[in-house]
Amino acid sequence: MIPARSAEYRARVASRREALGLELRSLLVGDTGFVWEVGAGHGHFLTAYAAAQKEVTCIGIDIVADRVARAQRKRNRARLERLHFLLAEADDFLACLPETARFSEVYVLFPDPWPKRRHHKNRVMKPSFLEAVAARVGKGGALYFRTDHEPYFREVAASLKGHASWRAEQTDALPFEEPTVFEKRAERHFTLVARRR
Ligand SMILES: C[S@@+](CC[C@H](N)C(=O)[O-])C[C@H]1O[C@@H](n2cnc3c(N)ncnc32)[C@H](O)[C@@H]1O
Repeated sequence: MIPARSAEYRARVASRREALGLELRSLLVGDTGFVWEVGAGHGHFLTAYAAAQKEVTCIGIDIVADRVARAQRKRNRARLERLHFLLAEADDFLACLPETARFSEVYVLFPDPWPKRRHHKNRVMKPSFLEAVAARVGKGGALYFRTDHEPYFREVAASLKGHASWRAEQTDALPFEEPTVFEKRAERHFTLVARRR
């Protein structure tokens, strides 16, 4: 592992982000609003979503190459031209978004809960993520979060209470439902919608 502060590490991040930025500029030509799924896994949710909303550009990301490849195969079989799965990390993605790109909806479904406090920094739904997404959500845009890990849910709900950028509430349903791999395994789950103030 390369130490996070080393020049080599910074160079790797810069080159990874440059390639991602180029890819995003080519995918989002002429698009201002799009749907984003973070941690899309095998792509069940977003493939079903894109099949139901063929005119909407959808981008799913994951940090595990096999999962992205599998999701991309699903997308190819379904011939969904406006759906894309990319091997990318959430913070990198946010840092590389073209200036004009805006999220219409963001889905974070069953993210890794990282239950130990010292690992909370690895969670996707952290304060810096909420701020960065808020800066890029278009008018009327929303962030949807679903998990089966109640403490994670409660902490995110608490961090959104009185938030300057988001108005959040617990809900039972997403605007579009398609059970993910983790949802099928979960005994119960908790869902929250946060709308841009
Ligand atoms: C618990 S799985 C859930 C997958 C899928 N959403 C589901 O519900 O079946 C979490 C996924 O998030 C991905 N992931 C974790 N951290 C990520 C990050 N920072 N950026 C993008 N994807 C991430 C993992 O590789 C994994 O596929």
